[in-house]
Amino acid sequence: MRIDTQVGIIEAGPAGLLLSQFFALHSIDSVVIECRTQEYCETRVRAGVLEHGTVELLKEAGAAERLQRLGLQHSGVYLRVRGKDHHIHFRELTGGRTITVYAQQEVVKDLIALRLAADRRIVFETEDASLHDIEGPKPYIRYTKNGESFEIHCEFIAGCDGFHGVSRPSIPDSVLRTVDKLYPFAWLGILAQVAPSSDELVYASHERGFALLSMRTPEISRLYLQCEPDEDLHKWPDERIWSELRMRLATLDGWVLKEGPILQKGVTGMRSFVVEPMQYGRLFLAGDAAHIVPPTGAKGLNLAAADVRVLSQAFVSFFRSGDRALLDRYSEICLRQVWNAQRFSWWMTSLLHRLPNDGQFDRRRQTAELDYVVGSRAASQMLAENYVGLPFETL
Ligand code: FAD
Ligand code: DHB
Repeated sequence: MRIDTQVGIIEAGPAGLLLSQFFALHSIDSVVIECRTQEYCETRVRAGVLEHGTVELLKEAGAAERLQRLGLQHSGVYLRVRGKDHHIHFRELTGGRTITVYAQQEVVKDLIALRLAADRRIVFETEDASLHDIEGPKPYIRYTKNGESFEIHCEFIAGCDGFHGVSRPSIPDSVLRTVDKLYPFAWLGILAQVAPSSDELVYASHERGFALLSMRTPEISRLYLQCEPDEDLHKWPDERIWSELRMRLATLDGWVLKEGPILQKGVTGMRSFVVEPMQYGRLFLAGDAAHIVPPTGAKGLNLAAADVRVLSQAFVSFFRSGDRALLDRYSEICLRQVWNAQRFSWWMTSLLHRLPNDGQFDRRRQTAELDYVVGSRAASQMLAENYVGLPFETL
């Protein structure tokens, strides 16, 4: 069966859904396809920290009603070094900017609800998606659902289908340059039914490895431990996780980690990955389809939103006046913000993790760097302005 639209969007993750919402606001027709179920998309536990600019974008998209009501606004984070907390005060160091803790799956839920309420097209549980004629003026997406074949004929395709999607591999190898870096550790993350033990996030540097205390709601905590890249979760019964967290998050003043039932556990690998360019013919990549950052510093979701800001404005100018200038500069503009986020995520990762083969020199250098970051206003400000998100480039 043939479906006609202006832009075909592959996926119902944050990038594709936000793009589709901006399209709806500007009367651009789009169809979103997604290989998972609606329930899966709305319950997949991932990121939780929204930068100032991401919150502003969601407000602009008309998708921030629940976020503004339920999101937890934070003015800073703590760096816990040798058992002592150092507060990095974002509001003070960045002229009033803050971050908001609000789960990625809630952002996804809000955007899906808006799309369904407006009766706009979104197809879940698609199979065998493939992209065709992306070099020409009339690209199309083919997929099947319940054994029936469909073709979405469109003017452009937005490939927002994450790291394992089909969009990026549709671009010829000879066109794409891939820059990739793997890290020799991963994060074991848990979601626990217990009130957060801190009013703001705690990034802890410890001899046994990095630990992070985060949260989702006043009743739900999210915690992470640095672990082996191929860590076997079976070796981590709940009590071992809490015991390790207690050790790595311990303070000199007897602070107590609150514990509760673990609702979910998972291991997230760490990599830095970028493809250049992020566009080819009539295909535009956004979000994890084009880049992955290591999670330290919480940039992944925010970077996906930053891509969408540029892509949505580029499409709006094109469909309004036929002006291709911004579309043609899409990759160049996004790659500047992507490399900034890569630089910062790499720096936060190197600052806080223990490397298996670190010698005395690297340990001492890391300690000196941590002391500098917490002791110098200029260095704290550098962390703060990157964490809350650098201002967007004017388009
Ligand atoms: P995704 O969210 O990956 O969405 C892609 C969508 O495409 C998915 O819904 C997928 O089902 C769909 N899809 C894929 N292939 C197809 C296909 N062939 N046909 C149709 N649909 C398809 N970032 C942080 O900032 N902090 C964190 O703590 C954090 N934790 C993470 C934990 C995990 C386990 C992972 C994987 C990522 C984490 N991230 C984190 C990164 C962050 O979640 C991503 O950067 C963000 O999800 C990017 O959004 P996206 O829309 O680009 O891609
Ligand atoms: C979270 C994840 C991050 O990668 C991070 O740096 C901070 C918080 C989180 O999931 O809450």
